[in-house]
Amino acid sequence: MSDQSTLRFITCGSVDDGKSTLIGRLLHESKSIFEDQMQALASDSRQYGTQGENLDFALLVDGLQAEREQGITIDVAYRYFSTDKRRFIVADTPGHEQYTRNMATGASLADLAVILMDARKGVLVQTKRHSRIVSMMGIRHVVLAVNKMDLVAFDQATFDHMIGAFRDFSEGLGFDSLQAIPLSALEGDNVFSRSERIPWYSGPSLMEYLNSVDVSREASSSPFRLPVQWVNRPDLDFRGYLGRVAQGVVRKGDPVRVLPSGATSRVKEIVVWQGEQDEARAGESITLTLANEVDISRGDMLVAMDAPPQVADQFEARLLWMADHPLVAGRPYLVKIHCKELSGTVTAIKSREDVNTGSQFPAKALHLNEVGVVNLSLSQPVAFEPYAINRTLGGFILIDKLSLATVGVGMIDFALRRATNIHWQALVVTKEARAQLKTQRPCCVWFTGLSGSGKSTIANLLEKRLFAEGRHTFILDGDNIRHGLSRDLGFTEADRVENIRRIAEVAKLMTDAGLIVLVSFISPFRSERQMARDLFGEGEFIEVFVDTPLDECERRDTKGLYAKARRGELPNFTGLDSDYDPPESPEVHLRSGEDSVEACVEQILQRMG
Ligand code: ADX
Repeated sequence: MSDQSTLRFITCGSVDDGKSTLIGRLLHESKSIFEDQMQALASDSRQYGTQGENLDFALLVDGLQAEREQGITIDVAYRYFSTDKRRFIVADTPGHEQYTRNMATGASLADLAVILMDARKGVLVQTKRHSRIVSMMGIRHVVLAVNKMDLVAFDQATFDHMIGAFRDFSEGLGFDSLQAIPLSALEGDNVFSRSERIPWYSGPSLMEYLNSVDVSREASSSPFRLPVQWVNRPDLDFRGYLGRVAQGVVRKGDPVRVLPSGATSRVKEIVVWQGEQDEARAGESITLTLANEVDISRGDMLVAMDAPPQVADQFEARLLWMADHPLVAGRPYLVKIHCKELSGTVTAIKSREDVNTGSQFPAKALHLNEVGVVNLSLSQPVAFEPYAINRTLGGFILIDKLSLATVGVGMIDFALRRATNIHWQALVVTKEARAQLKTQRPCCVWFTGLSGSGKSTIANLLEKRLFAEGRHTFILDGDNIRHGLSRDLGFTEADRVENIRRIAEVAKLMTDAGLIVLVSFISPFRSERQMARDLFGEGEFIEVFVDTPLDECERRDTKGLYAKARRGELPNFTGLDSDYDPPESPEVHLRSGEDSVEACVEQILQRMG
């Protein structure tokens, strides 16, 4: 962000490194200045109204709002202080590995990191981990605060050795500036003012440096980008596009392009809260009006006409997983990228990175606090910039569709140009024509329930009844499909997700062919049943919950599998050591333990109409 009057930074280290002492001292020593400033503000406000005081509150609110906009809910403590030069917002997160997600969250909004080291200990594994997280989250400015210099007798050789080791290690991490400062948080040396006890060091104190460091990342030549946050239409005559300029400068009269549609127009007015202005730059929140009417909605991007960003729906990205439940490739999530919200899946996990060492490993899943390289596929194309170029335009979060919790934070590296030349082939014989020929309404009846709940038995009788009425039907059954189409899949969570994805796609093709498809799979996870439902039109998907209690299924044990699982010979058995999420509002809820198979079929037929 180009606003140099506020510096957002993160402190990395542990309590043992003296982090709390350092932050405490910064807050304490700046407090007097802060109070002076407040007095000055108070006298100013007698002259000019209350704007001065309001500004600080706005700053406080702003900081929190930024998080809310990002949608991140991971716990990070923020502290606010100011000097006569700048305001500061410090993200203070614990340094242990189990808090990686907190550190990443704090770092995602910071422009600088203060990495604390203990002069007695040198560059530790945790120092390397912190540096990697900070680099991954796009921080380009680092202060190495070598603390406890008093405990090594302010020895220059110790300091030089540590800094040398850190420089060697951090070469590939992409830091633009690296300022090393020897200090003692406890005794105050080089924290606020320069210490006479470290005469060999001629650089600034920590506070002097934070007061003056330039963290602006914007070349003023970067092309203009405005992700549209809101379309404001108070009446028929006014249509404004609200958002924060994410890059570059825009002026009245500039030609602009709308992405992803490609429509073009010219900037008519730039309105901010104080009124109209001729230009706006990165960091400013504005409302734009355009010379002619164009179709624009939230999440679209207004960009410089002659320098548009890329638009894509497939990416390679780095992802930090933040949920207790592991990431499974193939599961649909809500993806939020700048102002756009859409559906997306991680189609492949290519590797996992050990944040302590930087080594890459092959991986099938990502667990809490793990970082990996993944392929991300979105339901629609979006305009973007690689994260390394612009954090706002290349960062995204993954949200669980059911709990709405943030489960991952990601950074786009580049777009994948796979299968881009594939378009839908228009079919001459339509789905409607096929349905008419068969004089039926195609649909998908999706049975879900535990193994042995009676899904197949009920589906078979239902098909018999429909067939007798002259309907064109087909059954897709778990046990059968697993002999062919899903022969390569087992019963891990990832394999079940993929199994259901395949079945849902096949069922969709069969309804397109005009059939009534009966699908009988355990399909234990709510999110994949939702994914299946989303493939179908209104009223085409009938979810049938065959609700038979586990002990009844186990008593029946038609295939002897429960006994086997109880003996420990069948791992990941649904209902025992693998979860089953019961549907919350199925179209048909059957209790096959209480009702006869005929009665169950009758209920479904009624619902099918
Ligand atoms: S699903 O979870 O992917 O929907 P699916 O319906 O295809 O499962 O297959 C379930 C059938 O596989 C069960 O009816 C049972 O006969 C058999 N099976 C073998 N191992 C397992 C297991 N670990 N969990 C559940 N079913 C299993």
